[in-house]
Amino acid sequence: MSWTPNAHAGLMEQAMTRKILKMAATPGLISLAGGMPAPESFPVDEIKAAVDRVLTDHSATALQYGVSDGYQPLREWVSADLAAKGADYPPDQILITNGSQQAISLASGILLEDGAKLAIETPTYLAAISTFRPSGCTFVDMPCDEDGPIPAELRRVRDARFAYIIPTFQNPAGRMISAQRRQAISETAHELGLPLFEDNPYGELYYDGEPPAPLASFDPENTIYGGSFSKVLSPGMRIGYVALPKKIYGDFLNLKSAVDVHTANLIQLIVYEVVKDGFLTTHLDKVRARYKVHRDAMDAALKKYMPADAVWETPAGGMFFWVTLPEGTDTGALLDTAVKAGVAFVPGEAFYAVDPPKNSLRLSFVTVSPEQIDAGVKILAELLR
Ligand SMILES: Cc1ncc(COP(=O)(O)O)c(C=O)c1O
Repeated sequence: MSWTPNAHAGLMEQAMTRKILKMAATPGLISLAGGMPAPESFPVDEIKAAVDRVLTDHSATALQYGVSDGYQPLREWVSADLAAKGADYPPDQILITNGSQQAISLASGILLEDGAKLAIETPTYLAAISTFRPSGCTFVDMPCDEDGPIPAELRRVRDARFAYIIPTFQNPAGRMISAQRRQAISETAHELGLPLFEDNPYGELYYDGEPPAPLASFDPENTIYGGSFSKVLSPGMRIGYVALPKKIYGDFLNLKSAVDVHTANLIQLIVYEVVKDGFLTTHLDKVRARYKVHRDAMDAALKKYMPADAVWETPAGGMFFWVTLPEGTDTGALLDTAVKAGVAFVPGEAFYAVDPPKNSLRLSFVTVSPEQIDAGVKILAELLR
């Protein structure tokens, strides 16, 4: 008798995620790898005050078991916030999760199984790939252009269980799908009977004007919407949510309660206490102003140092630049040398489920200072030459 992991348990991408987190914590290394909020953006005083109020006024609820759906006032807040963005999900279709990562995991558990097809963008979020993979699903690529998945091509993936899409400031490509394209994707998916999963942790981090309404605004009954407080408040609190079509809410709720009973009440109450009176409005203005400076610093550094054959689009929000280098470049092979030289990035190959090209890389601009961004991009560009 010996331990026998299931056939899909070789989670390559998770090894990369752990490496990214480790690199981010290495002293002296300029890490352009992790997608972590700047610690200076954490509203420590507001959270401290909220902890105090929650424990003074609501300790019986905060410290007790709760319902698997989540803390009702927080569900109502999320529902109202989504409605303000144009996506209609009543509070009883909102499930509070342990980060939006858990929304992905629940979708995998409920909707995927061995051999089921899952449509993804290429590239896509690496920790989603590794969350979906243990289901034994087959990944199928949605043909994309610079504006995201091509509606007419969705026919090719019509037999997928759902299409996983990050329409706003995509991780890793930084891409934002236009309003017209969102509508066309949503309408075509409806016609084809192809359900959608919109993952949107970055939508509030816009630097050149507000993004279009969510994909979910067009057809909420055909769209699962995953959201998060990680990038707007604190990822360590691990509070996310999933807004669900009525039909499948019960299935998600059952799996959520089987997995972890419910998300920590104490933290849900603290998040609610922080956000309930509109704190995020002023807070996010400050966060956006800070990150915009970082975004511009990275754009300037790339222009200043990168070889002429490197290609990138300046992202209008989010945390990432996606840089494509000439065919034949192997960014994976370059990583260890780069780390020794003092800079870390994520090789683009980590963001593909099958047949990864090797000539791209992802650079994050939010956690390190503009000076470090300049220094890091300079080192990287010298290695690429
Ligand atoms: C596209 C995307 N989805 C989901 C997540 C998960 O975020 P969290 O679980 O912290 O809400 C991330 C985190 O980086 C992400 O980039």
